[in-house]
Amino acid sequence: MDLFSQIEAPEREEIRRLREELEDANYRYYVLNQPTMSDRDFDVKLRRLQDLEALYPDMFDPKSPTQHVGSDLGKKGFEQVAHRYPMLSLGNTYSREEIEDWVRKLPQDVEIVCELKYDGLSISLWYEDGKLTKAVTRGDGQKGDNVIANIKTIASIPWSIQGEHIPTFFELRGEVLLPWAQFERLNKEREEQEEQLFANPRNAASGTLKLQDPQEVARRGLDAYLYYMLGEDLPGNTHYDRLMAARQWGFPISDAIRVCHSVDEVMAYIAYWDTERKNLPVATDGIVLKVNNLQQQVELGYTAKSPRWAIAYKFPAEKQLTRLKAITYQVGRTGIVTPVANLEPVQLSGTMVQRATLHNEDFIRQLDIQPGDNVWVEKGGEIIPKITGKENLTGEAGHTAERSYSETVFHSEGRSFFPTKCPECGTELVRIPGEAAWRCPNEKGCPPQIKGKIEHFVSRKAMSIDGLGEETIDLLFEQGLLHSIADLYDLRQEDIARQERLGEKSAQNILDSLEASKQVPWSRVLFALGIRMVGETTAKKIARRFRSIDTLQWATEEQLCAIDDVGKQIADSIIAYFADMDNLQTIQRLREAGLQMESTEQEQQALSDTLAGKNIVISGVFAHHSRDEYKAMIELHGGKNTGSISKKTSFVLAGDNMGPEKRNKAEALSIPLVSEDEFLAMLTTEN
Ligand code: IVH
Repeated sequence: MDLFSQIEAPEREEIRRLREELEDANYRYYVLNQPTMSDRDFDVKLRRLQDLEALYPDMFDPKSPTQHVGSDLGKKGFEQVAHRYPMLSLGNTYSREEIEDWVRKLPQDVEIVCELKYDGLSISLWYEDGKLTKAVTRGDGQKGDNVIANIKTIASIPWSIQGEHIPTFFELRGEVLLPWAQFERLNKEREEQEEQLFANPRNAASGTLKLQDPQEVARRGLDAYLYYMLGEDLPGNTHYDRLMAARQWGFPISDAIRVCHSVDEVMAYIAYWDTERKNLPVATDGIVLKVNNLQQQVELGYTAKSPRWAIAYKFPAEKQLTRLKAITYQVGRTGIVTPVANLEPVQLSGTMVQRATLHNEDFIRQLDIQPGDNVWVEKGGEIIPKITGKENLTGEAGHTAERSYSETVFHSEGRSFFPTKCPECGTELVRIPGEAAWRCPNEKGCPPQIKGKIEHFVSRKAMSIDGLGEETIDLLFEQGLLHSIADLYDLRQEDIARQERLGEKSAQNILDSLEASKQVPWSRVLFALGIRMVGETTAKKIARRFRSIDTLQWATEEQLCAIDDVGKQIADSIIAYFADMDNLQTIQRLREAGLQMESTEQEQQALSDTLAGKNIVISGVFAHHSRDEYKAMIELHGGKNTGSISKKTSFVLAGDNMGPEKRNKAEALSIPLVSEDEFLAMLTTEN
């Protein structure tokens, strides 16, 4: 074989890399609800991949991100339903030119319906004989999860409709959203409870829709707009007429729908809503253009991913140019050092911005940024604003690869601009191979890391200790009263009450809450210890297998790896944790303080705590189990069976022939009805 035939074209590698990157971005967006790539960057990469795949047809792969839409499947506990019609996505455009290109391919006399593009997640509502029977998420486009119990908490969606000419079966598709006001309220609550904030309303809506707790879903206040009707024997010959029929039947259809006859009219609609959307109660990220005539839609047809008869136009992200005054470095709770841009204050989407993330060292190098530069700052879907480029450039990180990297004084001496030592504790920083971040390895001595561990310990899902927010922990740490989680239980009333802003009352609250935390079950104590890679779910699973800390302490790698979800890395992290004398001392002190280091008899008997705190009413006739069996099941999973529906009812486990009186009462109080299958699915969810 000659040398040349062994050399592979670099584009082939690029295809593989882009597929991986886009798959990863899809997963983070759809499954984790933690987007890491902007829509724009995603599209730029997707287009590049499409072009390359066209050049190398032998590399065609039906699993490529160009061939399918992202997937939000992966959560257990919901019935999976095959879509009757696949749920596709839309092609994106960003300019008048791109819209003109699209219009050129349409019939001459085309009417275009303009709608707002709501930024939530799509849902398909099935109506059979006028009754809502299923509400299916997009999933992977072919099949999705039936989240009907959660959808029924949305007040604007009718459970049943009446009227003339209602088809025996139809689907209405639309977007589920969390309005800004609810989003802000939810994040405020989460902040107070020291839970991770949702980056944007879309993520909050998505996280909410997948909860196994319709009562909590109801409390959060989702809303919906519907924009597409499917089925057979439907009314009207145009998309617009169908939406108007749906509005007549009582569905939430937006008022902002216009039929346009030219690109100029479309552009006027875009210009109007680009500003006006800021006054809407929900998030929008663009507009959707659809061919109005249904016959023309059929003739235009579909590509593998999206209809040819519809396209999205995405609003440009709001960004501002401002001067970078300095770069500072912030050490996070896990020791990661993040470069922070200190900016000349600038107004952005209604707030004043003076700090933004520069992500990591590579990012600064690639964009060739240094203090004194004018930089673009953007508020993407994330909470923290970010720098996306510098002046004279496109302002988009995705485009900067074309620029030559200038060897300035700032960047010339290796990583001279990036600290080599931790700005908090002076320890030499390390960079884990394959990671972009520099990290301070001084886990036990670096102040933000110590405080981070304490913050984690007291957080809601761990020991749930009230009154100890970030500021209070800072204060007590500075005073030398709090160096480790075990110190918490040595705090004295007068030590706390002496602090500025903390009176006797808050001191007593903290002490009461610390006292109450001694009843927190062993699985949560294990999570609270903050062993690396042992998250909430893993801790629960480990605690179910190892019923006390004494047995866990001596667990072997083999025993640990036998637990569901525990791999070698997690096992090693646990073993390393118990090999450390300081940790053993901390555990000893916590044990002496009275914390639960083993599971109680009752916990050992319960199968799970899936229904903990739930009041459940059983009503109707069931196919799979008797009422008594359901009653026992509720108790075995930590719930309570109650006789009559009241405000306190979490949901009704509803079988066939549920009495009309109960049904009306549930509807009046917005108490969700959960079917037998949904209930069983809830219990099979491991958590
Ligand atoms: S129509 C086959 N109309 O945007 C056409 N979609 O990027 C189906 N979206 O998956 C979609 N507002 O979740 C349509 N007025 C609107 C929309 C809309 C938001 C979402 C939808 C879709 C995604 C495509």
